[in-house]
Amino acid sequence: MAILPILTLPDKRLRTKAKAVEKVDDSIRQLVDDMLETMYAAPGVGLAATQVDRHIRLVVIDVSEEKNQPLCLINPQIIHSEGEQVCEEGCLSVPDIYAKVKRAERVRVTAQDKDGKHFEMDADGLLAVCIQHELDHLEGIVFLDRLSPLKKKMALKKLQKQAVVSNPV
Ligand code: NI
Repeated sequence: MAILPILTLPDKRLRTKAKAVEKVDDSIRQLVDDMLETMYAAPGVGLAATQVDRHIRLVVIDVSEEKNQPLCLINPQIIHSEGEQVCEEGCLSVPDIYAKVKRAERVRVTAQDKDGKHFEMDADGLLAVCIQHELDHLEGIVFLDRLSPLKKKMALKKLQKQAVVSNPV
């Protein structure tokens, strides 16, 4: 297993649209393990392959308190969503910025697991938020894109200031 470097804004690679995983093989399983390790170490509750510069449709999630319920979604698709919730979100690719985002309350998802097996699941609450957030990454969308233009501008300004502080040149 290995901890992978995570891309952060304004890196344009985060804007890449991910391609389908054609075959779930050992190299994909290796990537899943590495992404889980990277996510737990960060620490975060979700990570999309896009964030580690692999532009394929694969995300890992664990919203459990004990961090012992890893979920791997390969070629995930939201086939139904309903309701509405507003939740404060953050992102490993947008360090130290948090903002309230409006999402669906419940989603139904189809995906493949680590063995390539197709399955369907229902999610609500934080898990539903996390799934929607991670699937956005696969489309090249970060949560800031879901904010009002003014709030997005403020968040980007804050991000820029942080970058200056951490890389004084
Ligand atoms: Ni994220």
